[in-house]
Amino acid sequence: RQPLRVLGIETSCDETGIAIYDGENGLRGHALHSQVDLHAVYGGVVPELASRDHIVRTVPLIQRVLAESGLAPRDIGAVAYTAGPGLIGALLVGAAIGRSLAYGWGVPALGIHHMEAHLLAPMLEDNAPEFPFLALLVSGGHTQLVEVDAPGAYRMLGESIDDAAGEAFDKTAKLLGLGYPGGPALSKLAGQGTPGRFSFPRPMTDRPGLDFSFSGLKTQALVTLNQLGGAEAIDEQTRADIARAFVEAVVDTLAIKCRRALEQTGLKTLVAAGGVSANSQLRAKLADMTAELGGRVYYPRPEFCTDNGAMIAYAGYLRMKAGLQQDDLGFQPRPRWP
Ligand code: KG4
Ligand code: ZN
Repeated sequence: RQPLRVLGIETSCDETGIAIYDGENGLRGHALHSQVDLHAVYGGVVPELASRDHIVRTVPLIQRVLAESGLAPRDIGAVAYTAGPGLIGALLVGAAIGRSLAYGWGVPALGIHHMEAHLLAPMLEDNAPEFPFLALLVSGGHTQLVEVDAPGAYRMLGESIDDAAGEAFDKTAKLLGLGYPGGPALSKLAGQGTPGRFSFPRPMTDRPGLDFSFSGLKTQALVTLNQLGGAEAIDEQTRADIARAFVEAVVDTLAIKCRRALEQTGLKTLVAAGGVSANSQLRAKLADMTAELGGRVYYPRPEFCTDNGAMIAYAGYLRMKAGLQQDDLGFQPRPRWP
C-alpha cells in the first residue's frame, strides 16, 4: 500500500503553485510560477491576464513536479485545488483542471479555502506548532485573527474593517512610487528610514476589540507626502522615513492585537501566515512579544508565506484524513468565501 499523496493546485490570484504532499514523507515536490512581471506594467493584477496565464502554466507545472519528485499519476491519491476566495477566472482554471484530473485518475477532489491553507502552512515546517493556537492571517486580501483548535475548528476573533494589511502596504508603496507589488519594496525602504522622524497612529488600539483598520495609515502617508510638497519633491531619505513610520505603525498595531488575543484566550502559541508574514520587521516584533508572554510564534518559511501549492496540497491531505473529500463531479469556485 502506498501512502496517501495529494496533488495541490493554487491559482487564486497571480501565482500558479503546484505541489505534492505525501502522508509519510511530507512534501515531495513543489513549483511556483509568479506572474509578477506580467502585471507589473499595469501597477496591479489584471484578472483576465491572470486567468489566461494560469491556463498556460498549470498543466506543464504539474508535469514538472511529478517528474522532479519521481512520481506518476497513479501515485496520486487525491487532488486539492483552491476553490476560493480569489479572482473568479483564475479560480476556475485551477478548479477545472484539478477536478478533471481527479476524474480522469479516479481519485477524490477537494476544493480548498485559500485562507485555511495559509493558516496551516506553518505546519509544513520541521518544528511545527501544536494545536490549539492563535493564527494571524495577513495577506493582500485579508487581515484576520483566528482561534484554531484543530483542522477545521476555527473561530474568528477579529478582522479588518477596511483595507487588509497587505493592501495597505501595496497602496502606500504606490504612493511612494515603489511599483507593484509594493510590500517587499516598502519593507526594504523602511529599513533605511530614521526612527521617530514621522509618527503614525496605531489604529483601533485605544479601544477594546480585536478588529483592525489600515486604510487610515495609507491616508496618513498621503497627508504627510502632501505636506512636504508631493512624492516628487522629497528626497530618498524622507521617502525611507515615511516608509519606516508606516511599517512601524502596521507592525505595532498587529502585535498589540495579537498580544490582546493571546491574553484573552490564554493561548501561548501564535502562528503568523500570509504574504505580510514574510515581513522581517513583523517577524522580529512578534517573536519579542510572544517571548515576553512566555509563548512562541511560528512562521512558514518565507516562500510559503506568500501563495504556493504546498499549503493547498497539505490542507487537502488533512481534509482527506478527516473524511471531507468531495465525491460528486461538481465544483463551485467561490470568489468570496467567508
Ligand atoms: O498571501 P499573498 O501572497 O496573497 C494573497 O493571498 O493576498 O499576500 C500578498 C501580499 C501583498 O500585499 C504583498 O505586498 C504582501 O503580501 N507582502 C509583504 C511582504 N511580502 C509580501 N508585505 C510586507 N512585507 C513583505 N516582506
Ligand atoms: Zn494568499
